[in-house]
Amino acid sequence: MADRYLNFTGTAPGRFLTRRLGLPQPSALRRWTPEKPSLEGELLHLTAGDSLHGSSSVRQLLTRTNLTLATDASTSRPVAVVLDATGISDTPGLAQVHAALHPVVRSVAENGRVVVLGAPVSPSDHHQAAAQQALEGFVRSLGKELGRGRTATLVRVRSAGAAESTLRFLLSPRSAYVSGQVIEVGEASEPEQPPVDWDRPLAGRTALVTGAARGIGEAVASVLARDGARVVVLDVPSAQGDLVRVADRIGGTALPLDITADDAGERIASALAPGGLDILVHNAGITRDRKLANMAADRWDPVLDVNLTSVLRTTDALLKSGTLNRGGRVVATASIAGIAGNVGQTNYAASKAGIIGLVRSLAPGALAEYGVTVNAVAPGFIETKMTAAVPLFIREAGRRMNSLAQGGLPVDVAETTAWLAAGASGGVNGQVIRVCGQSLLGS
Ligand code: NAI
Repeated sequence: MADRYLNFTGTAPGRFLTRRLGLPQPSALRRWTPEKPSLEGELLHLTAGDSLHGSSSVRQLLTRTNLTLATDASTSRPVAVVLDATGISDTPGLAQVHAALHPVVRSVAENGRVVVLGAPVSPSDHHQAAAQQALEGFVRSLGKELGRGRTATLVRVRSAGAAESTLRFLLSPRSAYVSGQVIEVGEASEPEQPPVDWDRPLAGRTALVTGAARGIGEAVASVLARDGARVVVLDVPSAQGDLVRVADRIGGTALPLDITADDAGERIASALAPGGLDILVHNAGITRDRKLANMAADRWDPVLDVNLTSVLRTTDALLKSGTLNRGGRVVATASIAGIAGNVGQTNYAASKAGIIGLVRSLAPGALAEYGVTVNAVAPGFIETKMTAAVPLFIREAGRRMNSLAQGGLPVDVAETTAWLAAGASGGVNGQVIRVCGQSLLGS
């Protein structure tokens, strides 16, 4: 369903009228295209206090993105600003964050990025913890202020070397609908060789995407294939026609299977033998909305089974059987409903909150025992058949109630999944990344 309001505000009269009426001003987001795969412009690298990682090594890291480093803050109109605040260890130091960004924030280009690098919050030094936690409120507020398709993100960096894939993602059009997020990057889980070709970071990897016959799952499968992965797409047997079409289009393989089947794990394992699996994307999901008072068990059970229990069952089976190779990546699909709750969705929100619990609990052990990272994406309002069916007024509210004043596209969730799935993203583990344009819900 086209966002007619976004199209209207993109015209001169539309912009004039909606400004005069004080209505939301969404900017058309700049997403990845083969012709324009990078944000074009200068990157301004600023440091507040002393960098924990050394200014020159952060600078070197930034030179590896596709952006040109600005040499003079006063003259440039940067498309991205990276503020290294890793060394801020007390609250007086926060004045340097203000001093660094206050003069430049106005000049950040449309669809630009502000990325603040922070340090892990100390459990033992409450002055450092106060200062570093302060950055979270700062970045989330900045995300709400920026407008014009610009985003703000805080990346808590333990090891600068492990942050490259995350910075490349955030400083690219691939992260268009990710804003107001806090992302923790730990040590790289394995001594990764950086992929030779950053345009195909998944080359040589095998991926399985559930619920891939349409919607977000189809977009995930396409983006993983674009990035070089060999993709197996899975969906219910009744969706086989669409599934085969997706598989053919992306040069992948179709696996018609109900993910709630008791033996789904074994059947996936045998379909992927002998090479195994590197990327497991749990995307299949259903809704059966009713208020709890009206919700019979036949609406509760399938939602919990598809969205949560089958995710637990297949993940356990594929880890234990060794189907998930070392260096593997599991990306599960939560939802902002699992964070904020939603009327009529006690079943759905329970299942999606359960995904968050699963991810946070399993991540450290899966990495230690199997060398596999486990993360979640939590989509906000994404333009799909599911949300097109929502009544007009609620749909409009859902679309606009975020810092970018528009719904996301399936490709936005797909790009985020592809970043988490990359071999070079081994330092990102146990994270729940909202792809929601910084939705007001649950923020
Ligand atoms: P969709 O309904 O368009 O696609 C879901 C796919 O999962 C369908 O192809 C369906 O056949 C498949 N599926 C359902 N049950 C299955 C089963 N038992 N075994 C195998 N496949 C099964 O949904 P959409 O919008 O693409 O959502 C994808 C995921 O994103 C879901 O987990 C959903 O909960 C989540 N999500 C979507 C949001 C949105 O705004 N569209 C917002 C937040 C989360």
